[in-house]
Amino acid sequence: MQTTDAAQPTQTTQTTGPGHGARTAGTAHAAGAASTAPTAPGAPPVPDFRAVREAEYPGLGPGYLNTAALGLAPARAVTAMRAALDAWAAGRPDIAGYEEAVKASRAAYARITGVPRERVALASTVAGAVGLIAAALPAGAEVVVAEGDFSSLVHPFAARADLALRPVPPAGVAEAVRPGTALVAVSAAQSADGRVADLPAIRAAAAGHGARVLVDGTQAVGWLPLRAGDYDYMITHGYKWLLSPHGACFLTVREGAEATLSPAFAGWYAGEDPWASCYGPIERLAPGARQFDARPAYLSFVGAAASLSLIEELGVEAIHAHDVALAARLREGLAALGLSPVPGASAIVAATGHSPAAEDRLTRAGVRFSSRAGNLRFALHAHNTGQDVDRALDALDGR
Ligand SMILES: Cc1ncc(COP(=O)(O)O)c(C=O)c1O
Repeated sequence: MQTTDAAQPTQTTQTTGPGHGARTAGTAHAAGAASTAPTAPGAPPVPDFRAVREAEYPGLGPGYLNTAALGLAPARAVTAMRAALDAWAAGRPDIAGYEEAVKASRAAYARITGVPRERVALASTVAGAVGLIAAALPAGAEVVVAEGDFSSLVHPFAARADLALRPVPPAGVAEAVRPGTALVAVSAAQSADGRVADLPAIRAAAAGHGARVLVDGTQAVGWLPLRAGDYDYMITHGYKWLLSPHGACFLTVREGAEATLSPAFAGWYAGEDPWASCYGPIERLAPGARQFDARPAYLSFVGAAASLSLIEELGVEAIHAHDVALAARLREGLAALGLSPVPGASAIVAATGHSPAAEDRLTRAGVRFSSRAGNLRFALHAHNTGQDVDRALDALDGR
């Protein structure tokens, strides 16, 4: 596993919890009151993740280890969306409220990724936002991608036969950048096995050869501290680690990099004043990244605003410590059972070497997981506890 240029987490997660035998050791539960546990002077308080689960996921049973496929909506997002749905059906759709939610979501995503909000454009899918970037490349441009990276990040380049797409092994992306490389496009964490990209090396290699960098943060933002401003473009679909509905997707464009894209896909929402841009060609596009805004799926953003507020309250560094500690525990348990987990400090745990009965056992035990590229794939996030880990390990152990 490589390092990232993520800010290093400064917190350690408390390790108490109800007894589940030997496996409980190292369980990443914050101890203490609902909001905080004791921390070093000056350090931010450590959230009590168990209390968060009780408050935000009151109906959640053990075993949901599938955030890498779909993040779970916290109670606050469900409440906000229900109210919006009820008002809509009662003939009181609250357009101003939707707009507030869009504004709040953009601002929260900007804070989470450490950029000014002017750097954040609204997208609706990763594939669509990557398409915008692919469409702007000159014919013959070389694009380096990781072999096996997610199709939405790769295909928009592959679909242009006049580009030189160069898939390379994920561990060799930085080394593959060479004079003439126009763009490196890589997931911060791989969907198939959770491997974290060596983003500092990729950035350095790209800077050395004048290449641009596109990071797909979909499997990372929300648990891995990342600074979007370090990359020319970063795209994150929020329905996994940001616990948001599908359609809440964000594209950051580094200052000055607007000129590398084309506003050819702009609709009314990309206008400086969207409501004055509804007819005919848009007279004035919005400044900054907003000129690349896709029209937001309003109800998704109602949910996203609430979900992102939870991510911010907990803090990505605290989530990182919690998720990675649980993932390490799961990795250790899987190895003890004879499986081969992909090593590293990722919140996504992928493993091979399982028996043909493993998937069925997990499913019968109520564990939610994914099968990806031959791996069993588990994902550990803020609502998970050691109980979830134990549930999976017990199922695989045949208990
Ligand atoms: C790394 C990564 N990028 C993107 C996506 C989703 O792409 P899209 O928004 O085009 O559906 C996924 C979904 O699993 C993913 O894992």
